[in-house]
Amino acid sequence: MVAKVMKAVQYFGYGGGAAALKHVKVAIPDPKADEVLLKVEAASLNAFDWKIQKGIPRPLLSRKFPYIPGTDVAGEVVQAGSAVKKFKAGDKVVALFSHATGGALAEYAVAKENLTVARPPEISATEGAALPLAALTAHIALTSVNIKLDGSGERKNILITAASGGVGHYAVQLAKLGNTHVTATCGTRNVDLVKGLGADEVLDYKTPEGASLKSPSGKKYDSVIHCAMGIPWATFEPNLSATGKVIDLTPGLSTFMTFARQKLTFSKKQLVPLFLTPKTENFEYVVNLTKEGKLRTVIV
Ligand SMILES: NC(=O)c1ccc[n+]([C@@H]2O[C@H](COP(=O)([O-])OP(=O)(O)OC[C@H]3O[C@@H](n4cnc5c(N)ncnc54)[C@H](OP(=O)(O)O)[C@@H]3O)[C@@H](O)[C@H]2O)c1
Repeated sequence: MVAKVMKAVQYFGYGGGAAALKHVKVAIPDPKADEVLLKVEAASLNAFDWKIQKGIPRPLLSRKFPYIPGTDVAGEVVQAGSAVKKFKAGDKVVALFSHATGGALAEYAVAKENLTVARPPEISATEGAALPLAALTAHIALTSVNIKLDGSGERKNILITAASGGVGHYAVQLAKLGNTHVTATCGTRNVDLVKGLGADEVLDYKTPEGASLKSPSGKKYDSVIHCAMGIPWATFEPNLSATGKVIDLTPGLSTFMTFARQKLTFSKKQLVPLFLTPKTENFEYVVNLTKEGKLRTVIV
């Protein structure tokens, strides 16, 4: 029998940073027909969570308050909605919530069945909770530029910016499952970490070479998985192959303007904004890679 009240962390409006997060007691949510109620074992926060709290995505993504932050959890199913087919009480799972609802920083949370995946015993709750948003984003970014993760396909030169971050560190590992040469950027303290993930060459973004994004071995990039912020198109452009594409995971107004201009001028080099559309099969795929030891989560 589940207690009716749970502890959670909430904020009550935009802004305020960590000081605005309050420990509260609230009612345990009821799962709808297509949802499972989870006892949360671990939750992870992503860069987008602080952007939401700051109100950066407004008015496209506005929040109802109070709001329990976090979209990524590992937990145990305590109750399955009436239409749920894949899960029952006692199952260990990982789940991704919508940013509209949040809910991860709580003792209990509800997850849609289609964004919930079984967590095998080989994956700890902590590793599992780190996966959903970051690994799925890395996966969709790489597959959007036709990197075949089974190693088939022609060889491609890839640049991954912010390779030491949540998305970037999964992107390096996934890219290396494909037939790729990976150049990666990160801060000084993480150069060895990123090499250890499999990157072929690593640039410290604080050096002039790193800021220019030039491949030390002179390669032109067929694709860039851009996870950092604030790098202008003019910096990418000279480093791209003739049909090179930059997948911009942190798009701002200038990205959309460049994208539109390039469409109108039939530019072969392209800057493409990308947002995650999560799919169950991709979620299962990254969880399975983790189970097989092919994708690891680095927690420092
Ligand atoms: N489009 C989507 O659907 C989607 C989905 C998920 C995330 N995102 C966005 O993708 C971005 C990355 O997310 P994340 O979760 O990986 O963030 P994160 O874990 O906070 O990582 C940020 C990383 O950025 C690195 N960094 C900062 N400035 C840099 C620069 N100029 N060049 C290279 N690296 C730099 C830092 O490296 P060091 O610590 O080594 O200095 C840090 O590791 C965020 O802006 C997030 O909102 C978008």
